[in-house]
Parts: sequence; C-alpha cells; structure tokens
Amino acid sequence: QITALTAGSIGKDGYRHYMEKELHEHPLVIGQTLQRMIDPATRKVVLPDLPFDLATVPRAVITACGSAFYAGMVGRYWLEEIARLPVDIDVASEMRYRDPPLSAGSLGLLISQSGETADTLAALRSLREKAIHILSVLNVEHSTMARESDVMLGTVAGPEISVASTKAFTAQLTVLACLTIATARARGTLDPIGEEELVAALMDLPSRAAEVFNQGNAIRQMATIVAEARDVLYLGRGSMFPVAMEGALKLKEISYIHAEAYAAGEMKHGPISLIDRTVPIVASVPSTPLFDKTLSNLQEAKARGGRLLVFTDTQGADRVSAIAEQIVVLPRVHDFVAPILQTIPVQMLAYEVAVLKGTDVDQPRNLAKSVTVE
Ligand code: G6P
Repeated sequence: QITALTAGSIGKDGYRHYMEKELHEHPLVIGQTLQRMIDPATRKVVLPDLPFDLATVPRAVITACGSAFYAGMVGRYWLEEIARLPVDIDVASEMRYRDPPLSAGSLGLLISQSGETADTLAALRSLREKAIHILSVLNVEHSTMARESDVMLGTVAGPEISVASTKAFTAQLTVLACLTIATARARGTLDPIGEEELVAALMDLPSRAAEVFNQGNAIRQMATIVAEARDVLYLGRGSMFPVAMEGALKLKEISYIHAEAYAAGEMKHGPISLIDRTVPIVASVPSTPLFDKTLSNLQEAKARGGRLLVFTDTQGADRVSAIAEQIVVLPRVHDFVAPILQTIPVQMLAYEVAVLKGTDVDQPRNLAKSVTVE
C-alpha cells in the first residue's frame, strides 16, 4: 500500500527501496523548491538578499562532485545562454588543486546535497581565499558549507536516504533554473515577457513530471535489455549531455554495469568503434533545437549495428520510433526545462536495471552517501 507522498517522511512508504520512493518524490520536490523561489502573486523569481550584484559579476566558477557536478553542468548551459554569464566548471577534486585566474568579484557556485562533501568543501575554501563571493546550492541547510558560504539557496528535497542521488538532483536543477532567471533579469538579457515564459515552463513542470511515471512499463522493458549488457553508451547533446552523464553514473553506481556518457557529436571521434549489438545506446533526445543533429548521430550508430533505446517526447516520437528499437515518450515541455524532465526516466531506468540485477539498491557496494574524506 503506497501512502500519500510527503517529501521528508522517514519510512519507505510502501515502496521497495528508498530510491524508488525518492524517485516518486520528484514532482513534489520540484514544486516545493519552486514555491520557495517564485512569488506566487507576481510569478517572479525572488532570491534572498545577496551581498553582491549579479549584474556585475564578471564570471562564475561552478564546482561540485558526483551528480551535483552534472547539475552544475546543466547550470552552465543555462547561465551562459540565457544570462550571458561566462562560466568555468570543474569537479571539486580538481578545482581544489587548480589555480584558475579569477578577477575580483567573481562568483563561486558550489552545489552539494549534504553540504559536507570533503572535496567540495575544500574547493569552497580555496575559492574563498581568492576573495570571491560564495553562493551554495544545498539540501542540508545547517551544514558546514552553509555556514561557510556568503549565501545559500536551499533545495527543498527533504532527507535523501538512498546513496544514489535522485530527487536532490532535480531540486538542484530547479534552483539553478531560478538563479539563471534572476541573473538574466539583473544583466538585462531577459525581458519581463521572457521571464514570464520561463517561469510558466517551471510552474508546469511538477504536473509533467508526474506524467513520467505513466511510462513505467516502457522503462521496465528497456531495463531488460540494459540488464543483459556489460557496457552501455549514453548519448545526449547540449543540456542533454549532462543528463546522459547522470544516467551513466546512476547505472554504474547501483547496477555495476559499465556505462559511459558521450556528447553525441563526439561519438565519431572514438566510441563509435565500440558499437555493436552487445553495447546498447541510451539516448536522451527531446524535440529541442538539437533534435535533428542528435538524431543523425543516432542514425550513424544504428548503421553500425547499435541498438537504440531512446527517451524522447510526444513531438519527437514518430521520427525517433522510425530508427529506435525501444522508445519512451515523455510529455513535451519547454526546451528550458527539458533537462529536468528528461533526468527522471534515466534515473528510473538505472533503478529498474538494479532491481533486475538484484543489487543492494539503496546501499551500493563501496559507496557512501556523503564522502567526508579526500
Ligand atoms: C557521493 C554520492 C553521490 C553524490 C556525491 C556528492 O559520491 O555517492 O551520489 O552525488 O557524493 O554528494 P553531495 O552531498 O556533495 O551532493
């Protein structure tokens, strides 16, 4: 018996694993995070008072580990394209030993579910030494990173028990989307009509995210193919590239199947030589402006015997089904929020594969929820 969802309740609420429960909380946590960041009366993004001016920040440096890093990669696409803010990004374990030249007033953007990850914390401290502003996107609001940041934006995901991150990731993307809108407004790259359109796309998301669960059977069918594989290739372009990386990471973490994510256009420079019927290709291809380009990359893979398992949307479904062995059709949403929606089924796929493999889904071997050592 599955009870009503409350993000933050401690039990499994009738689900088989915490991960399954937390996957089902996606619509709720996206909605709760938006409630925190959007004024319902004006439908405008409202940030807490910032001790710096987003209009004049010359550059942002994003750093994080694991899934949070992939959320940051999506954030880079948004901040550069919509707010025209130059962004540098690296995993925290590299960033802490890099010495990037940064002009005064640059912004350090740290992303972490726990707020305690040792590498991210060390990167925060090394950026602070360069006298740059620190803004952190955190799920645990009383964490060490929260205390050491100039300002914190909270993801309202509730406690995440499963080691593999799910709902915290979409909540991080939701915060980064709102931060992008506020930054774009401050920098004059988004007019009120543009802001209204992007906010409407975000507000629409919880209902569209709930519809993803109607695709459970199609995802489970896809999982039977993936579960047989030794290696899996994940592909995406633009903001779908980090979604592919998140999908590959999740699969590795909980099913122990080797998976690699590639920017679909880069496949011809190497991984295409791996392709045969034993290496399924999982691709995230919603009908965004990069749809045609990605589809032609997939056709190249199919011509070499690749089995295509594709996440698309209602608008792309006909053209994708002409070449793919299996498709999962998601609701069509605004291009801006497509990476948030497309993340949900790739995480669900990893979950279903792990269930088929019989692994310890919530506590995968060798991994910890929060890595507090270097
Ligand atoms: C661990 C977890 C990952 C997580 C990463 C970053 O490696 O296994 O799922 O993405 O830490 O954690 P954080 O708490 O900083 O987001």
